[in-house]
Amino acid sequence: MHFKFLNLVGLSSLVSALTNAPVTHGNNPHIKYRATLPGSSSTPIRGAISGHASNNGTGIIFNVNFTHLPTDSGPYLYHIHENPVPADGNCTSTGPHLDPFNRTETPSCDSTLPATCQVGDLSGKHGRPISGTFSVKYRDVYLSTVSGTAAFFGNRSVVIHNKDKVRLTCANFEVVTDTNSTTTATGTSAASSVPPSATGSPIATGGAAAASASRDVSGVLVLIMAIALLL
Ligand SMILES: *[C@@H]1O[C@H](CO)[C@@H](O)[C@H](O)[C@H]1NC(C)=O
Ligand SMILES: *[C@@H]1O[C@H](CO)[C@@H](O)[C@H](O)[C@H]1NC(C)=O
Ligand SMILES: *[C@@H]1O[C@H](CO)[C@@H](O)[C@H](O)[C@H]1NC(C)=O
Ligand SMILES: *[C@@H]1O[C@H](CO)[C@@H](O)[C@H](O)[C@H]1NC(C)=O
Ligand SMILES: *[C@@H]1O[C@H](CO)[C@@H](O)[C@H](O)[C@H]1NC(C)=O
Ligand SMILES: *[C@@H]1O[C@H](CO)[C@@H](O)[C@H](O)[C@H]1NC(C)=O
Repeated sequence: MHFKFLNLVGLSSLVSALTNAPVTHGNNPHIKYRATLPGSSSTPIRGAISGHASNNGTGIIFNVNFTHLPTDSGPYLYHIHENPVPADGNCTSTGPHLDPFNRTETPSCDSTLPATCQVGDLSGKHGRPISGTFSVKYRDVYLSTVSGTAAFFGNRSVVIHNKDKVRLTCANFEVVTDTNSTTTATGTSAASSVPPSATGSPIATGGAAAASASRDVSGVLVLIMAIALLL
């Protein structure tokens, strides 16, 4: 009787302790962070991931571009981890996933309820890379570029794991200074090595990993054709 009562109390406090990740606001659209995977490492995987806010400052738009993903060890997982990669490049030292609301890995992330996932679980929320090239763009409203907030990722790292969660490669986020040319849909890519990114709605995940760049190109082609018809 006494034990049952204690168990109930224990259970209910456990349930009420679960906090959902809040939507982030006030992210400066001119601040961008990018993590570039190292060129020399024991894996062929290369690429980068960057995140910046759209003009209304709500949430973060991520551009992910991973290449040379071996066909035999996916689907891959990638997360934002709590600590930066040390100088020796040891991905184990990045610690656990960024999880300020203590959601842990169990139960695993339900992408239909992203506020209940670990904030850093990008592949859980937005889809897992399978093989070859993984080039996606999406909006994640739970991460932040406001330093000092729980969901700030600018001082953290990204880690790519194989299907068995072995850490294959990792990199630190670093601030990218010239982002003005990337914050408007019509921006030019002048003076920037980063292609301009449209600030539109999220582009789907995992399976639909086809390059978002080609959609942008076809949009431009349609525009040019429409103008040609008018003339
Ligand atoms: C993706 O990365 C590869 C090499 O890492 C690069 O050649 C390619 O241009 C990048 N694509 C985009 C869309 O950024
Ligand atoms: C990497 O770091 C972990 C702990 O942070 C340590 O146990 C492991 O030995 C390190 N690996 C190498 C190759 O230094
Ligand atoms: C998460 O756990 C840490 C360490 O136990 C604690 O300091 C923090 O308050 C917890 N956060 C939430 C939102 O429960
Ligand atoms: C990163 O910044 C957060 C505040 O946004 C801070 O709590 C955390 O300690 C910092 N992490 C590292 C590794 O410096
Ligand atoms: C970007 O534009 C904003 C306002 O339009 C300005 O405050 C900022 O200094 C610019 N940044 C750079 C790197 O040019
Ligand atoms: C902010 O802009 C994004 C598109 O970039 C849009 O999806 C979202 O609804 C906007 N949020 C608010 C609060 O206006």
